[in-house]
Amino acid sequence: MEPAYIKDYSHFKQHVATLLHKAGWTVITAKSNQPGYDLVVKKGNLVGAVHLKWLRNNVAAPQLLKFANFLDSDEGKIFNFGLFITTKGFSGPALALIRSWGKDTKIRCGIAKENKLVGIDSADYEDKVHHNSIKPDKIYFGIFTCKGGVGKTTIAGHLAGAFALQGFNVALVDLDPEQNLQKLVGDGVFVPNSRGMGTTIEVFDGRDWHEDSARDCKIVICDCSPAIERNPTHLLEKFHYCIIPTTLNPLGINKHGKVIRDTVTEIRFINKNAHLFVLVNNFKNPGVQKLNLLKKVYFETYQDILKTDDKFHCIDPTEVCIRTSEQLYYWGIHILENPENPSSRLAFDLIGGRCYPRDDFINLADYIERKAGIGILRD
Ligand SMILES: Nc1ncnc2c1ncn2[C@@H]1O[C@H](COP(=O)(O)OP(=O)(O)O)[C@@H](O)[C@H]1O
Ligand SMILES: [Mg+2]
Repeated sequence: MEPAYIKDYSHFKQHVATLLHKAGWTVITAKSNQPGYDLVVKKGNLVGAVHLKWLRNNVAAPQLLKFANFLDSDEGKIFNFGLFITTKGFSGPALALIRSWGKDTKIRCGIAKENKLVGIDSADYEDKVHHNSIKPDKIYFGIFTCKGGVGKTTIAGHLAGAFALQGFNVALVDLDPEQNLQKLVGDGVFVPNSRGMGTTIEVFDGRDWHEDSARDCKIVICDCSPAIERNPTHLLEKFHYCIIPTTLNPLGINKHGKVIRDTVTEIRFINKNAHLFVLVNNFKNPGVQKLNLLKKVYFETYQDILKTDDKFHCIDPTEVCIRTSEQLYYWGIHILENPENPSSRLAFDLIGGRCYPRDDFINLADYIERKAGIGILRD
């Protein structure tokens, strides 16, 4: 049976307030309609906002991102720090997100137990992340659309990074004759986490790829050629998930709609089972009204596919998208600056404690996990 303090939100709030009080904080309850936080804590000059998540499941990455964004907003800036406290725990992607944030971020995350608040840096979660990946099979991702220049290579590389941050070893397979992926990160990428350990992303030329060449990798991500016939059928057949990048611009929407229909038809001819995700890349927020209009047209374009294909997912860009960023742009520039010398870095460096590409790709990994159950990788 669950402890009494988990019974409902108000029991939980009372319980956390008591624990914080015991730890020497003055605790003030926020107004009930106050967006962003539930409690305020004070000690000396320090003032913190406390966000409570009363959940039967783990906290997902977007819920954390919302609080992080609040702390960065004008309203949130008045706080020296933010505490995100929940009942059960944090999802794999949420943990990766927390660990990826620098020491100078204002968020601290924890779980309220019977007698104390436990920080997520306590030893027990790290074990879970590593012991869970015992399932034998590899999970295959394809990044494919029958059009060039929409971000396939960028997405392949950084989605691999998002999984690596969660402790998975990842293989990247370059199927595009352009070989941009190999030029960018040909030597592979080492993704360290905050504990100094790390995982590797190995990069393979499609022609050299064989299951056994990456025995340790649970996740395989293929950067496809936009010409479907240039991708080996035996790999296309294997995809469990296929990400179809697109952009959301007013004049391109109809044209891109056609490209995506063609893409879906081409994939389905070879692979009937893969979950297909349309993902908006290069996203710029045009403001609420214009965005609603764009979203309406965007969803309408795919209505008929959505009706007939229950594994076709059209991702709402307000939920998950890859924002336009200088970091991703300059990551691509590296090819011109240093064609002979792969950089072995991703656009994951922190700026002011945060990194938009990293947040977006972890958010994407979390979405796929929730929608399509990549949980098969864990227990
Ligand atoms: N979200 C983004 N923000 C800024 N630049 C981006 C973004 N996504 C892709 N780019 C840039 O756009 C160009 C095309 O991307 P790329 O991944 O090579 O596309 P593809 O593999 O589909 O041809 C690259 O120069 C890349 O750096
Ligand atoms: Mg490419």
